[in-house]
Amino acid sequence: MRQIWITRYGGPEVLQVREATDPQAAAGEVRVRVRASGINFADILARKGLYPDAPRAPMVVGYEVSGVVDAVGPGVEEQWLGREVFALVRFGGYADAVVVPVDQIFPKPARLDHAQAVALPVQYLTAWQLLVVMGAIGAGDSVLIHNAGGGVGLAAIDIARHFGATIFGTASSAKHGFLRERGLQHAIDYTRDDWTRELMRLTSGKGVELIIDPLGGGHWRKSYAALRPTGRLGMFGISTAASSRLPGPLRLLALAGTTPWFHPLGLMNRNRGVFGVNLGHLWREVPKLQGWMKDLLAGVDAGWIRPHVDRSFAFDSAAGAHRWIEQRRNLGKVVLSA
Ligand SMILES: NC(=O)c1ccc[n+]([C@@H]2O[C@H](COP(=O)([O-])OP(=O)(O)OC[C@H]3O[C@@H](n4cnc5c(N)ncnc54)[C@H](OP(=O)(O)O)[C@@H]3O)[C@@H](O)[C@H]2O)c1
Repeated sequence: MRQIWITRYGGPEVLQVREATDPQAAAGEVRVRVRASGINFADILARKGLYPDAPRAPMVVGYEVSGVVDAVGPGVEEQWLGREVFALVRFGGYADAVVVPVDQIFPKPARLDHAQAVALPVQYLTAWQLLVVMGAIGAGDSVLIHNAGGGVGLAAIDIARHFGATIFGTASSAKHGFLRERGLQHAIDYTRDDWTRELMRLTSGKGVELIIDPLGGGHWRKSYAALRPTGRLGMFGISTAASSRLPGPLRLLALAGTTPWFHPLGLMNRNRGVFGVNLGHLWREVPKLQGWMKDLLAGVDAGWIRPHVDRSFAFDSAAGAHRWIEQRRNLGKVVLSA
């Protein structure tokens, strides 16, 4: 099989295709011949040495794949053989074959191709956890989605739209037209305007009930301040660390220095809530993920979950795929096709 290795921390050029022997499915596992591997922003942070959850370099990252089961380990039903599935994997997904516990695979819906299916595990589950499970989104709520043009952002638009929320979103201006077509009602260019001022103008100074924020550091303070009473802030990333000019560890330190503290009395008196989401820390809660995925797959069937593939890169062009995302050019999912 072929894998894409992060040979050392650095720029996209450190990504290298290497040959390895096929992995064998152990008890409770299946082997998937991969047709599409999902790329996530966390992979870029890992490549730069800024993602503490990742294995140390050299390593193979990748949290999700879609493909065909070609072997099952002891204890796994043979009916899985030959089935088209998509899966959450704990690293190692940049490969054309992976082994994965059977409870982390899901039958691929016939109406999605492999590239679309691989948009579901990380980005749609994260958006579901943020908006529905922890954000308690309801009809009539106003929601602000930061990075609305990224994979999580587009997933969040699908979900917020389905729940009847009013949707505000930040993204670079070139993405606004497409985002409006997808259901974003109020697009804000956070690269030029002060998004807080614009949000307050659009909401007549009230703010919103729910904000999902993957930017991190001082952005969380600004987002918290933009909540109206009963508002919730979901924090789930540190994208700003990716473009800082400081050396690796200093970037995280600088980010920590600007990160706000939330006092219980302040939360109580302002009727606000804050919560964090890290899908990569839910490996002991897989039944929950399965339940959320069941709801998402029902949404695929009903047509309101619409995974959008921005671009599919050839397996040996992972560096190009990373550059594409880092240059903020993607609108939705970026995949590698094996
Ligand atoms: N905690 C979790 O479980 C979890 C799960 C999934 C993702 N995340 C986090 O959520 C964020 C978005 O993930 P995603 O998969 O949706 O991203 P993505 O599809 O890779 O999209 C990345 C987009 O983010 C925006 N961006 C903001 N700051 C950036 C920077 N410094 N460098 C490059 N692009 C930047 C860009 O769009 P615009 O500038 O045009 O808006 C870019 O196109 C990331 O921080 C990721 O780590 C967290």
